[in-house]
Amino acid sequence: MAIKRICKYGEKVLEKKCRKVVFEDIKKELPALLADMFETMDAVGGAGLAANQIGLDLRLAVIKIQREGEEPLSLVIINPEMAEKSGSMYEDEGCLSFPGLFAKIRRAAKVKVRALNEKGLPIEINAEGLFAKALQHEMDHLDGVTFVSRLPLMSRLKLKPALMKLKAQWKKIDESKMKPM
Ligand code: CO
Repeated sequence: MAIKRICKYGEKVLEKKCRKVVFEDIKKELPALLADMFETMDAVGGAGLAANQIGLDLRLAVIKIQREGEEPLSLVIINPEMAEKSGSMYEDEGCLSFPGLFAKIRRAAKVKVRALNEKGLPIEINAEGLFAKALQHEMDHLDGVTFVSRLPLMSRLKLKPALMKLKAQWKKIDESKMKPM
């Protein structure tokens, strides 16, 4: 297992729609890849990580939701599709590709997602709250959409100077040099 460097805002791979996974083609490398993704996410205390955030053009992501007093909920989604969404929430969101930046983003409150799991089996996920937010955020990544681009135009413009400053600092952060938790 290894902690990977996380791609930061401004790197092209984050703005590209990821290629659909042919499960048979990656099945051999998948366990090692997923172990690296979970380890990388855990090292920085993230709730989700998409493959393109570690530079891979693959339509898959890992999610780990930690609720107080509960076992963490870990999940792998491969080729996820949004089947249903309803309601609305407006909550703070962050992203491992924008370390330390938080912004309120409008999301559906409830979602139904279909995907393949780590065994290549079809799964249907019904989620709400934090879990629904993580699913939408990671699925956006796989479409090349970062959370900041979900902000209304005016907020985006206001944020721009701060983002430019942060971008230079973020570039220097290399998670792969971190010690595992
Ligand atoms: Co993110």
